[in-house]
Amino acid sequence: MSILVTGGTGFIGSHTVVEFLERGEDIVIVDNFCNSKPVVLDRIERITGRRPKFYEVDLCDAEGLERVFAENPELESCIHFAGLKAVGESTQKPLLYYRNNFLSTLTLCETMARHGVKRIVFSSSATVYGDPERVPIRETDRLGQTTNPYGETKQVIERILSDVVKADPAWSVSLLRYFNPVGAHKSGLIGEDPKGIPNNLFPYVTQVAEGRRPFLHVYGNDYNTHDGTGVRDYIHVVDLARAHLKALDRARTVTGVEVFNIGTGVGYSVLDVVKAFETATGKKIPYVIDPRRPGDIDACYADPAKALSILGWQAEYDLTDMCRDANRWQSMNPNGYDGADA
Ligand code: NAD
Ligand code: UFG
Repeated sequence: MSILVTGGTGFIGSHTVVEFLERGEDIVIVDNFCNSKPVVLDRIERITGRRPKFYEVDLCDAEGLERVFAENPELESCIHFAGLKAVGESTQKPLLYYRNNFLSTLTLCETMARHGVKRIVFSSSATVYGDPERVPIRETDRLGQTTNPYGETKQVIERILSDVVKADPAWSVSLLRYFNPVGAHKSGLIGEDPKGIPNNLFPYVTQVAEGRRPFLHVYGNDYNTHDGTGVRDYIHVVDLARAHLKALDRARTVTGVEVFNIGTGVGYSVLDVVKAFETATGKKIPYVIDPRRPGDIDACYADPAKALSILGWQAEYDLTDMCRDANRWQSMNPNGYDGADA
């Protein structure tokens, strides 16, 4: 039996593949490298001693995907990471985001159904809560108004997968709402490798630490938080990866749809992160206070109790671990995977 991992050479996918391989499971990755590089496969092999089966296929390509399933009749479940994820870019290129994220998911589910594979773990996001009615956020809290096409695709794909279950109760769907995944594998061999100027806080901070950028822009210090800067629930990517093992174990025993928040339950401000990073690494992070970034909210952090009670999962790494591991990855790979060899 093996597991199809879409987007398995990306940031979260690669860390999850490592955890599954180390548990002895067989993996088939499908990725079109639109936001990742082939060298990730070498790095996964270096960490685990095993090389996952790989197909360079666009998930929107029905024939290509059909071939993957036909050649791997032992596939029994899917972990679906593939998608475009940059909030800002999604407002500039809405059609690209809607086409890629919807069509890939529809094509995937149709192909799975044809081959009798009815178990899927989907990468959703805390973005589906919009501006939350309260923190910590519970899974039963109301979904918010999305403010960008990226967030819209997450909300709608959650509904599509729920409708699939309504029509055919033999499906098992696990919707994981990730909070803010950061950090890297302890080997320093895999990590987050954004193209161009990073949109997200952690990769920006690590690039400042490396001297690639002069200072951090802190987007606003007048939020309703303990120090005025935005508060988020940062979660170590290895903890997040392990949540997928637990979610799949659960999906193997139940049918229907289940939703889980995957976060630590602790919120840290931008300035908390800067201080923690400086302490963990001994590197100075100069910063300037800039205006708020449009669409940002005061605070967003999870109540992760459901994941603990039903999946038996909880985060083990703290903010210091996240800073140390993100810094190690950036120091060992100053240009990310660019020009990297195995
Ligand atoms: P990533 O961009 O590093 O990985 C996504 C992978 O999917 C990439 O390797 C890309 O090449 C591939 N891909 C995209 N479209 C494809 C297609 N049509 N066919 C085949 N491959 C395709 O992103 P990530 O940070 O690893 O995120 C993984 C998932 O988790 C995404 O669905 C993302 O929306 C979701 N998520 C991420 C975050 C975050 O902050 N990183 C937060 C919440 C949810
Ligand atoms: N921030 C800065 N400077 C930066 C980058 C970010 O001050 O250079 C601040 C933001 O204003 C925010 C915090 O750092 O207060 C975190 O910002 P990120 O961009 O790292 O993360 P977001 O919470 O804005 O967004 C993330 C994912 C989205 C996802 C969302 C909700 O990037 O894909 O979480 O799950 F939709």
